[in-house]
Order: sequence, then structure tokens, then C-alpha cells
Amino acid sequence: MDGSQPIGQGRSDRHPGDTYGDILERDSRPVPGHLREGRLPEIGTEPVLASRYTSRAFFDKELRHLWPRVWQFACRVEDIPDVGDTLIYENVGKSLLVVRTAPDAIRAFYNTCLHRGRKLATHDGCKNELRCPYHGIAWNIDGSFKDNPIGWDFPQWEGGDMSLPQARVDTWGGFVFVNFDPAAPPLASLIKPLADDFARYDWENRYRAMWIQKKVRCNWKAMTEAFMESHHSLTTHPQILPALGDANSQYDLPNDYVSRHFSAQGVPSPFLSGVTEQDVVDYMTGMGGGRRTRPFAGAGETHKVPEGTTARVYMAEIGRQGLTQETGYDYSHASDAEMLDALLYNIFPNMSVWAGHAPKLTYRWRPNGLDVDTGLMDIMIFAPCPKEGPRPAGAPVIELGFDEPVSSIPGLGGLAAVFDQDFGNLPYVQEGLHATGNGQVHFARYSEMRIRHLHQMIDRYIAVGEASSNASGCLRDARIR
Ligand code: FES
Ligand SMILES: [Fe+2]
Repeated sequence: MDGSQPIGQGRSDRHPGDTYGDILERDSRPVPGHLREGRLPEIGTEPVLASRYTSRAFFDKELRHLWPRVWQFACRVEDIPDVGDTLIYENVGKSLLVVRTAPDAIRAFYNTCLHRGRKLATHDGCKNELRCPYHGIAWNIDGSFKDNPIGWDFPQWEGGDMSLPQARVDTWGGFVFVNFDPAAPPLASLIKPLADDFARYDWENRYRAMWIQKKVRCNWKAMTEAFMESHHSLTTHPQILPALGDANSQYDLPNDYVSRHFSAQGVPSPFLSGVTEQDVVDYMTGMGGGRRTRPFAGAGETHKVPEGTTARVYMAEIGRQGLTQETGYDYSHASDAEMLDALLYNIFPNMSVWAGHAPKLTYRWRPNGLDVDTGLMDIMIFAPCPKEGPRPAGAPVIELGFDEPVSSIPGLGGLAAVFDQDFGNLPYVQEGLHATGNGQVHFARYSEMRIRHLHQMIDRYIAVGEASSNASGCLRDARIR
């Protein structure tokens, strides 16, 4: 992953149509510099083993060397507003209690009783103590030991520290992250490029307007990768091409922990011809959808593009006006790109946040428990809180099983169809990966560089972890930098 040999800046390694940068040149407002193409290290074109998605042995390596050492999005700050509020975060068989221990402090305790190992809590909620339901031993909400009904029989606990073990907690943008590694680099140092770019979008001041958690029959990485490039739209989501510059998309790797891709909306795909500006607007306003979850402002209304204006400029302005009406904030400075485009940032290894001013998507991907072949995807929409009045309550989770489509949830309009198309592919991706004849998959050099990089980072964590295990038998000796 040497950044000294960038992928060529010429057009030969891109789709021959406009680049995303070309589209930004036609924006009606000054575009922030962070939307321009960034770091493009040459990271190779080699095939990758399909067994990375299907083998128990590789999954076990991820269990040992990846998940215990990465920052994982656990919840939102506003999910636990009051002291004592407790939320359970689980992944790959691990369970943490994320607790508001003081007005300005959040801690994450291993959700395991120190007596005989029962889970301390199996439900979220506000608690004044963490009392184990088995024999009644209790801890204060700050994790300190409180009470043992048979304390006389535990001489071995006398004088010792019987506080609950903790994982690390950090926050960014209202998101609470946890990390099991006491020596992991601070979150802020890893995601600095993202945090810098998002300074304009005030994510602390957003609320969760929608939350779906979907079970999918594929490995967690296959699911993650389905949302790391836009060119699958040509065949998977052909209906959105009138307003998506799929092949114009821009991909880059700001650092090893943050990858991005930007896809223009409000312009037709370069694969289409004969699409008029009015066609684009008709498509965007025809997507329908619920008030706070609609993909574009103006959905469900009839709009005529004024002479001399592009659909993109027109729809961005509709978006500004709609968002000002909803929130009371002024968005007159917001670029068309920041109003309309799919600006996807990923935080390694399993989270994606869309940048921009309008209500935006956030994704989280995890294995489904300890299963190699199935995964869990959280789809959330975060909308700006109105300037006046109380913060809207965060939407509760809607859980969807393997065979329950997103379109079974009312009010999501065209967005539901797009997710269902993605989830329609993924079980067949997993089946295909098991059935491969040559044991390999291939990633495109430019437009799938984020996917290749994800694999390279996972390999880096595994290599460091294995080297450490071999050297000392102690995983904690090796550090990822
Ligand atoms: S297992 Fe928790 S009190 Fe016994
Ligand atoms: Fe998709």
C-alpha cells in the first residue's frame, strides 16, 4: 500500500465520460475541496481467494485478529441520554454493555458476570445497578463492585479489584465506538480525513430518522462490498440510471482507515443516451417515499425544469428549500454536490457514512453471530435536527429476517427497491463463491480499489496478529499502527 505510485491521473484508466470532477465544475456553488479526488495509491490488480468469504479458517482469523482490534460503531450518543442508560452491543459472539455512567461519560463493560459468567444484561434500558439475574451479584453503573448476597463465601474477592472489565469507548459525530484493544490508536487519529471533511455537516446535531437491520445470506464482506462501488447500478439498479452518474464516480483512499467514493446524482448515467433534463427531474421526483426518508426533496410533486437550468442545479435548489423548511437552517451556501450526491465514506472495517447536508444514510455490517455465510446490515438515515424545538426521538430498529424485503416497510419508496435489488444479489454471490471453479475473484483496478483495500487491511491485521502470536503467544504485544 505504498502511496508513492499513484494510479494515473489521465482518462485512460477511467470511464471515458465526464469525471466526477468535471461534474463538480458545473456546480452552482463553490464546491469544498474535499470533494476533489485525493490519495490514489497503486494497490495492485491480483486476484483474491474466494475462500476469504467462505472458509471457517479465514473467518476464525478475523475473529482472532481483526474484530478484537478495530473501532466498531456501537450506538449513538442520544441512544443513552441519561445516567444509567444502557445499550447492548454485540458482534461475533462478544457482548458489551455501553453505559452512560455520568452526564459526560460513556463506558463499555464486558457483558459477563465475574461470578460464573452469565450475561449481566439481555435488555437495553435505564439501570441503577448492573445486577446479575443468576445469583444476584451486582455492580454499580460505573462498573465498580457493589454487592454480593453471598459475599461471606468469597474470601478470594476480598481486597481485590472486582470492577467489571472495560473495552475502550470513543465518539465522533454523535456515534459511539468501542474497541476491545486497550492499545489501539485513538479513533480520531484513524479517521481524521473523514472528521475534517464532515466538519461542515454537524453530525452531532442529527437524529436517526430510520433504522432497518437486515439479515442477509452472505459473508459480511460480500455485503459490505456491495455498497463500496456504484457501477453495479448498470445491471442491478437500472431504474436509477436516469439520475445517477454511475460510471462517472470518483474513488479514493484518504488514508488506510477511510475510503470514499462519490457518485453524482441529478445527472444521467453515461451509459444512457437521449435523457433530457426534464426526464431526470421526473425520475427524481417520481421516486416517492416517506417525509423524512425520501431520497430527494420534491419527491411526489410535479416539477418543470426552467429553461436554461439543469436538472441537477434545479433539484439541488429544491433540496435546499425543502431542507430549510424542515429544519429552519440556511443552506444557500450548500453545493449541489452536497445536496444531492452519494458521498460515501467508509470507516474500516465495517461502517459507512454518507456526507452532505440532506438526510443521509449510514451503514454498519457485521457477521451474523459466528456464521461465515450470513451477515447483518444496519441501514440508518440521519436527518438534521430542526433549529427550534426538541430533538426528535431516534427511530427504533425494524428487524428484517432473511426473507423479509425492505419493501415490506411502508413509506420508503424507491429506496426500498434499491436495497431489495442489492439483497437479491447477495445470497447468490455467496453461493457462487462456494461454487467457484478457480477459487478466485477479481477486483477492478480503480472502481473497486476500496474493496481491494479492505482486504489488504484485513490481511494486515491478521499478519500482525499472527506474528505476535508466533513471537510471544500474547496477542496484545503486537500493535497496528
Ligand atoms: S453468574 Fe452472575 S451472580 Fe452468579
Ligand atoms: Fe446497490
